[in-house]
Amino acid sequence: MSNIAIVGAGHVGVVYAAGLAELGHRVRVVDVSLKRVAMLRSGRIWFYEPGLPELLARGLARRRIEFTTSYERGLAKARFVFVCVPTPTTAAGSLDDSYLRAALTSIRQNTKPPWPVVVNKSTVPVGTGDVAARLFEGEDMHVVSNPEFLAEGRAVEDFFHPSRIVIGSRNRIAGEAVAALYAPLRAPVVHTDPVTAEFSKLAANAFLATKVSFANVLSRIGESVGADGDGLAKALSLDPRIGAGHLRAGLGFGGSCLPKDLAAVEQLARRYTESSGLFAAVAAVNRAQRARIVDLLVDRFGTVQDRRIAILGATFKANTDDLRDSPALGLACQLAELHASVNVYDPVAAPQLRALAPQLVLFRSALAAVRGADAVVVATEWPEFATIDLLAVRRAMRGSLLVDARGLFDVEAAHRAGLDYFSFSTAGVRPHEAEEPLEAVAS
Ligand code: NAD
Ligand code: UGA
Repeated sequence: MSNIAIVGAGHVGVVYAAGLAELGHRVRVVDVSLKRVAMLRSGRIWFYEPGLPELLARGLARRRIEFTTSYERGLAKARFVFVCVPTPTTAAGSLDDSYLRAALTSIRQNTKPPWPVVVNKSTVPVGTGDVAARLFEGEDMHVVSNPEFLAEGRAVEDFFHPSRIVIGSRNRIAGEAVAALYAPLRAPVVHTDPVTAEFSKLAANAFLATKVSFANVLSRIGESVGADGDGLAKALSLDPRIGAGHLRAGLGFGGSCLPKDLAAVEQLARRYTESSGLFAAVAAVNRAQRARIVDLLVDRFGTVQDRRIAILGATFKANTDDLRDSPALGLACQLAELHASVNVYDPVAAPQLRALAPQLVLFRSALAAVRGADAVVVATEWPEFATIDLLAVRRAMRGSLLVDARGLFDVEAAHRAGLDYFSFSTAGVRPHEAEEPLEAVAS
């Protein structure tokens, strides 16, 4: 078992700390945030990730994990240093590697022989691994690119059951030493060079983004020709060459990774090929999904000014409290800018929302948020929304429009509850036929 240091106690770093400790390693995690380190020391994780608190608690109880703000302490004894710092997007659309550069400089200043292997898990501009290696030139210190493919909301599952492990190394022994850490996971390992490893990460996210936009365009076509969106997705997904993932039509993709990595690939395509239009189109389709809901509401009410719109779900997808580049939050803020009164309920993100978007009115339950609403938009696919009592929703509302932007309900169920229904796979708004008064429907 090895001594491992992890730099960056975030969505990737904490999962790795807890996961590697579970595999038996001793882990020290360094973060620049005193507040986060203090929380993590007491077993509290600063973000929501199912299963992670329990896993972290086990690692802490076994004294296999330590959190620190000191690089000196964190890196002492480390045979491997995993780098998990953020690489957000710059205004120009490329990846901002300034956190990574700062982390590598600190690593350089706080290591000495026997040199650890630096394992980069941050998603970086293609070629970064070789640039980083030059920083350690002259020392027998190797930088291995080991991109991360876990998804938020299922990160623990993804850690223990990775689809593949990609290792990009110019040094065979260093690459194999990193692969050996993952041996208990029995995952397929791809050994390659750092440039290919880095590019494979960006390419995977660009492909997933493309698949979501593809599904969204198909659902628009299906809407017009009368094809059922769920049936279409199922028919496609059973072809192993297509696969089941990322075919759900909806409000579009968001989060801290798909949009930024798509933008990075678009930039590369623009620089080196004539085909940047492919990725620009994927991004444009994505933006259009959100705009479509705004247009739908404006069409319905003439103006959304002073209309009460309830948004259910604010995170970029279910099972996370991550609001980074969230289509749901973007939609809520856009409606607020148009002077709608926006009620929001999210199962886990209320504390962050309060600070980030004070213009939104937050509620403690979905039913409380829909009270008095002219329209309800289900913007994130939280499981609790799928089982909501639609009749109770209709009764609490002032209006009758349900916008199912994540495809959770079927049109008949909505109509039975007296709701007019829109989803990306129905042809526009399908109004319920109110032949009977609502009370009669309920009895
Ligand atoms: P995050 O923002 O959740 O966490 C990063 C942490 O690094 C923060 O706690 C921050 O305080 C810390 N940090 C910043 N600069 C530092 C420094 N110089 N030294 C020490 N700590 C520092 O980020 P994340 O979501 O874990 O993403 C990390 C990287 O992994 C990014 O490149 C991202 O693209 C990639 N990635 C993320 C995911 C994901 O699911 N979030 C999945 C795959 C890959
Ligand atoms: C994504 C990738 O799935 C991970 O493999 C990768 O490691 C990660 O980015 C990263 O690089 O950080 P994540 O952003 O957590 O993971 O979430 P996804 O499950 O991929 O969803 C991304 C967005 O696409 C969400 O907004 C989601 O709602 C949307 N989506 C997803 C759809 O609209 N339809 C789908 O069928 C699937």
